[in-house]
Amino acid sequence: MAEKLWQGRFDQPTNKLVEEYTASIHYDSRLYRYDIEGSIAHCRMLAECGIISHDEASRIVEGLGEILRDIERGRITLDSVHEDIHMAVETELIARIGETGGKLHTARSRNDQVALDMRLYTRDVLSQCRSLLRDVQAALLEMAEKHIEVLMPGFTHLQHAQPVLFSHHLMAYFEMFTRDRERFGDCFRRMNVMPLGSAALAGTTLPTDMEWTARYLKFPKVVANSMDAVSDRDYMIEFCSASAILMMHVSRMAEELILWSSPEFAFVEISDAFCTGSSIMPQKKNPDVPELMRGKSGRVFGNLVGLLTLTKGLPLTYNRDLQEDKEAVFDTADTVTVTLRLLSKLLPQITVNRERMAAMAGRGFTLATDMADYLVRKGVPFRKAHHIVGQVVQYCIKHGKELVDCTLDEFKTFHKAFDTDVFPYLEISTVIDRRTSVGGTATSRVKEAIALARTRLDAPENETNPNPNAEK
Ligand code: ARG
Repeated sequence: MAEKLWQGRFDQPTNKLVEEYTASIHYDSRLYRYDIEGSIAHCRMLAECGIISHDEASRIVEGLGEILRDIERGRITLDSVHEDIHMAVETELIARIGETGGKLHTARSRNDQVALDMRLYTRDVLSQCRSLLRDVQAALLEMAEKHIEVLMPGFTHLQHAQPVLFSHHLMAYFEMFTRDRERFGDCFRRMNVMPLGSAALAGTTLPTDMEWTARYLKFPKVVANSMDAVSDRDYMIEFCSASAILMMHVSRMAEELILWSSPEFAFVEISDAFCTGSSIMPQKKNPDVPELMRGKSGRVFGNLVGLLTLTKGLPLTYNRDLQEDKEAVFDTADTVTVTLRLLSKLLPQITVNRERMAAMAGRGFTLATDMADYLVRKGVPFRKAHHIVGQVVQYCIKHGKELVDCTLDEFKTFHKAFDTDVFPYLEISTVIDRRTSVGGTATSRVKEAIALARTRLDAPENETNPNPNAEK
C-alpha cells in the first residue's frame, strides 16, 4: 500500500496480512459517488464557515469532480492499494492538487464520513426498492384485473377449504407488498438524518455548520448526538429487516408458483423465458426462478441476523467491527432489487389455466361451509348444521362423489330442511358472490379492492415518495 494518511504515529510498516485483513476497498468502493458527494458538501461548508478559503474549496471541489469522472471512465482503479474508499479518494486528491487536498479532512473523521456515505447509499436503495415494489404491485393488479372472475379453490393447511376468486388471492399479495413499501418508507423517514461533522465521536472544536451540510445534501435534520451518529446502525438493520419481511412474502408467492406449475396442480404455466431445463431429463421445464427467489430469502434473513449479531456487543462508539456492516447491506440491496425486477417481469408471463382452476374450485368439498350456512338459513343451529354436513361429506367420500352429485332425496335422508333450492345455493359463482363481508372474495368486493388499489398505487407521499430528492 502507498504511504498511509495516518502513518505519523507509526515507526514500522504495516504487516502485509494486516493490510489485507483490514481493507474494505474491495466492497466499499461502490460508495465512491456518495463519498465524493459528501466530501464536496463538507468542503463547501468549511469554506462557508471561513475554515478554509473559497479558493481552496474550489480547488478541492474541482479535484474531487475530476476524480469522480476518472473513476466513472475507468481511469482510476479502486483496488487494494488503499484501505478503504475514503482513504482512496483523499489520497488521490492530495496526489492531484497537493497540500490543499489535505484540508478536506478538517473537522471530520472516517467514522462520521462512513456514516454519511451509508446513509446516502441507503436512501437511494430505499427509494429504488419502493419503486420496484410498485412495479410488482402494478403487475399483480393487471393480473387480477385480467383474471377477475377466474375461480380457484382457496386453501387452509394446503387442503381445499372454500372457493375463492384467483384475483382475490393475487390481491392478498398486493396487501403484503403495500406494507413492505410502507416499511421502506418508514425506514427512510427515520434514517434521513445528517451525521457528518460529528467527527470521531465527540463533535469538533472548529466552527462548522452541520445544518448547512444537511441542507446541501437534502437532509431535513442533523443528528442529535455525535456519539450516536458514529455508532448507529439501526437504519441498516431496519432496511435488512424490512427486506427480510419482503423476501418472506416473495418466497411464499414463489412457493405457490412452484406448486401451481406442477402437473398435480396444473394451475399455471410459467413462460419458457423464465424456466430452465435439466441436463439429463429432456422433458424437464423447471421453475428455477421462483425456486431461487425462495432460496435467496435465506441469505437476506442471514444478513439481518448478521447485522444484529455484529452490533449487539459493541461499546460506544465506533469500533472497527462496524466495517463488516456493509456487505450485509449491499448483498441485501442487490438481492432484493434483482428479485423484484425479475418478479415484475415474470408475473405478466404466467399463463393461467382457468378451466383447471375452476374445475378444482368446487372439488374436495369446498362447498361444505355454504351447505351448513344453507341449513342455518333454514333455522338449523350452526353446530348441528356443521355435524349434518360432516355426515353428508362422509357419505360422499364413501360413494366417491362430490356434494352436488347427490340427489335431493339423498340430502333429505340427512335433514328434512334440504330442498330444491340447495342446488342453486351451491352454485360456485353464487357461493363466491355471497361473500360480501369487508375484504371478502365476492366479485363486487374484489373489484372494489382493485379499484382502491389502483388509486393507492400512485398515491402521493407519505404513501409513495418519502424521498425529497426524487421529487425534483
Ligand atoms: N472503512 C471503515 C468502515 O467502513 C471506515 C471508518 C474507519 N474508521 C476508523 N477509525 N478506522 O467502517
